[in-house]
Amino acid sequence: MLASADNPFQIANMSLTTKCLVTGGAGFIGSNLADELIKQGAKVSIIDNLVTGFRENLEEIRGDFEFIEGDINDDEALARALEGVEIVFHQAALPSVPRSVENPQETHEACVNGTFKLLIASRDSAVKRFVYAASSSAYGNQETLPKVETMCAEPLSPYAAAKLMGEHYCAVFHEVYGLETLSLRYFNVFGPRQNPSSFYSGVISRFIDALMSDQTPVIYGDGEQSRDFTYIANVVDANLKAAQTDRGFGKVMNTANGERITLNELLEVLKDLTGKHDVTPDHQEERAGDVKHSQADNSAAVEYYGYEKLVGLEEGLKRTVDWWKQSRFAK
Ligand SMILES: NC(=O)c1ccc[n+]([C@@H]2O[C@H](COP(=O)([O-])OP(=O)(O)OC[C@H]3O[C@@H](n4cnc5c(N)ncnc54)[C@H](O)[C@@H]3O)[C@@H](O)[C@H]2O)c1
Repeated sequence: MLASADNPFQIANMSLTTKCLVTGGAGFIGSNLADELIKQGAKVSIIDNLVTGFRENLEEIRGDFEFIEGDINDDEALARALEGVEIVFHQAALPSVPRSVENPQETHEACVNGTFKLLIASRDSAVKRFVYAASSSAYGNQETLPKVETMCAEPLSPYAAAKLMGEHYCAVFHEVYGLETLSLRYFNVFGPRQNPSSFYSGVISRFIDALMSDQTPVIYGDGEQSRDFTYIANVVDANLKAAQTDRGFGKVMNTANGERITLNELLEVLKDLTGKHDVTPDHQEERAGDVKHSQADNSAAVEYYGYEKLVGLEEGLKRTVDWWKQSRFAK
């Protein structure tokens, strides 16, 4: 598909007349996804308990949608959110390794119990397609790179274990009940609307926030750990494609940039982009549960739903810095 002024990211065109539910739609990925779904003509409802999401993200979504402020573990709120819905994009979770190490119970409730409840409610309603936000944390510290879905999972944190359980339930709900589930294993997503303001935030948003606010960026460990950073437009497009494919049900598919960069290298790129060349990072103790290296093989995603990388790392970083400058986080 060719880029155009209306479709700068070349995002998959979706002539959707069906109704979609985005769980976690006040969050970073969910709000970007809801925005694009509405732009593509879908009717959208969002359920979010605002535990890590923001009303400001909802306010930035262009177009009409229904917002149910509630928890996916609440039967009544879930029933309202699922009224007339045919496609579920399940983004709600407590997406943080350190937070899950501190409080595994709340992570289990949001990620395992919440996903299970949502799958049951989807099975018992008009839902046909269920696209699940899975996590590359499932791979743990295995040395083989790139990571392929046939590798055994080795979760290192309560968060990774909980997200992995969601994949298993999605596979089983396809196998047993015929629900068209697809699990997209995202690798370190970044971009506009990612909250930079907490210890739990993604590293790119924290680095940009620190550089732009003349603070010292913190690196946990020596900075030689590497990640496969994926720009948000690629993940939004992946979800739209996964909603329209006729293959891959019950499967897990890496959804990533497909390259890796160390945190030290990343900081250098961001120093260039922000013009803050003199900054020296503060190296603090490694965080429990963090993986050392991460890089995806996207072949399964290409095969099952036609994944394409639309925006590469450097361009994504540029767009994210530009967004930050006019965002509510700019001081
Ligand atoms: N950001 C990444 O790099 C990344 C990588 C791999 C997987 N994921 C997955 O992608 C999804 C979205 O992540 P994100 O980065 O946008 O995080 P986010 O914190 O911005 O969004 C998650 C949203 O879910 C909501 N939520 C949490 N528990 C809920 C509950 N019980 N009921 C209703 N709403 C609830 C939060 O309020 C928030 O708005 C998550 O499932 C996460 O595990 C993210």
